[in-house]
Amino acid sequence: MSGSTDPIAPGAVVLRQFVGADDDALLAQIERVQAEAPWRCMVTPGGLLMSVAMTNCGAVGWVSDRRGYRYDPIDPASGRGWPAMPDAFARLARRAAAAAGFAAFEPDACLVNRYEPGTRLSLHQDRDERDFSAPIVSVSLGLPVTFLFGGATRPERAQRVLLFHGDVVVWGGAARLAFHGVAPLKDGQHPKLGRQRVNLTFRKAL
Ligand code: SIN
Ligand code: FE2
Repeated sequence: MSGSTDPIAPGAVVLRQFVGADDDALLAQIERVQAEAPWRCMVTPGGLLMSVAMTNCGAVGWVSDRRGYRYDPIDPASGRGWPAMPDAFARLARRAAAAAGFAAFEPDACLVNRYEPGTRLSLHQDRDERDFSAPIVSVSLGLPVTFLFGGATRPERAQRVLLFHGDVVVWGGAARLAFHGVAPLKDGQHPKLGRQRVNLTFRKAL
């Protein structure tokens, strides 16, 4: 079901084609999540509108607004909790973490990002989680993209890693606080997702 494991840095790997035939189940669950917690563009603490559309599922969701970045059990758009994490999501995330050498990963949050042609995500660290001993598991679906993977400090030159539908990136350990981002999405047509890329990032936030 899965392809090669490509190391990016100590603690970071790409599991090529790890999603395999589970992609349809993931896409069906993404539909359910966004029906309950619709895509929205969040505002940065500095007041800029992010171009990536986001939603979440799990016990808590990652949110950004004028007050800052945080994990919140409540979806600010609805005032209710986020949709539960689908079993198919949690199972895939656990399997991918284990394949990358991180046993017993139990994600409690999944940020779902939607990129349209031209959309990018600037270099950042995932550091709003409480416990950096758990890895980040990132699942790419839809159009291919150039993923940027840097070091623990912003000036380190980022590697450019091409990611395709079904690839999974896992980073933890020495790479847990690596800067990462996404280059502007090139236009194209994906057979299952059309003109977009959807990314799931699984975190242990609490
Ligand atoms: C993220 O860093 O939150 C998402 C990365 C990606 O879309 O590949
Ligand atoms: Fe991130």
